[in-house]
Amino acid sequence: PPARDIAGPLLHWYDAHARTLPWRAPPGNPAPDPYRVWLSEIMLQQTTVAAVRPKFDLFTTLWPDFAALAVADEAEVMTAWAGLGYYARARNLIACAKVVVAKHDGRFPATEAQLRALPGIGDYTAAAIASIAFGQRAVVVDANVERVVARLYAIATPLPAARTAIRAAADAITPDARSGDFAQAMMDLGSGICTFRAPKCLACPLHDRCDGFASGAPEQYPVKPAK
Ligand code: ADE
Repeated sequence: PPARDIAGPLLHWYDAHARTLPWRAPPGNPAPDPYRVWLSEIMLQQTTVAAVRPKFDLFTTLWPDFAALAVADEAEVMTAWAGLGYYARARNLIACAKVVVAKHDGRFPATEAQLRALPGIGDYTAAAIASIAFGQRAVVVDANVERVVARLYAIATPLPAARTAIRAAADAITPDARSGDFAQAMMDLGSGICTFRAPKCLACPLHDRCDGFASGAPEQYPVKPAK
């Protein structure tokens, strides 16, 4: 489908169907707190929304901002993190908060490149924060977005080689305005409708322009690596 025909219907759908999540501003509203966006994106790496919710509430109560987290007791942070796994993420949280306080006056720098220089922030997280918290155009590709894009364009190349084409297509369909809402709309579509198994295509705002749907077998995309 033409790249410019995707964002409109997707954002329209998001305005009506966005999940209400504690780290989000309602669709179309002013950007949410960058600290909360960052904390949620780190927690959501390899962890489900359901598992993250209570931990996010706990963390933001105990440490509501960078200043608080920068002086937090590491053992207490580790205890609060218990159950989320991948403990390097929790150690990087404190390290990142310390750098933000020491070098950036307690506020995040607003460009993807500066964000990427901080502890624990890679390409994905920098793009997510730049777009969701700072309203900049950034291309945000996680596993859900990857699946949606691979289906939308029926990308026949197997993973991991498909990632080049998936990223190019994701870039092409990302709008200049509301790219943070667009990214989160793609995530909500991937988690609730364009699911790994048995996608609910008839509930999808993009099915009438989806090459995967037209193929009759959308779940074959993205194509798994050959063994
Ligand atoms: N997974 C990763 N980031 C997310 C977000 N901002 N909203 C929903 N799911 C996500």
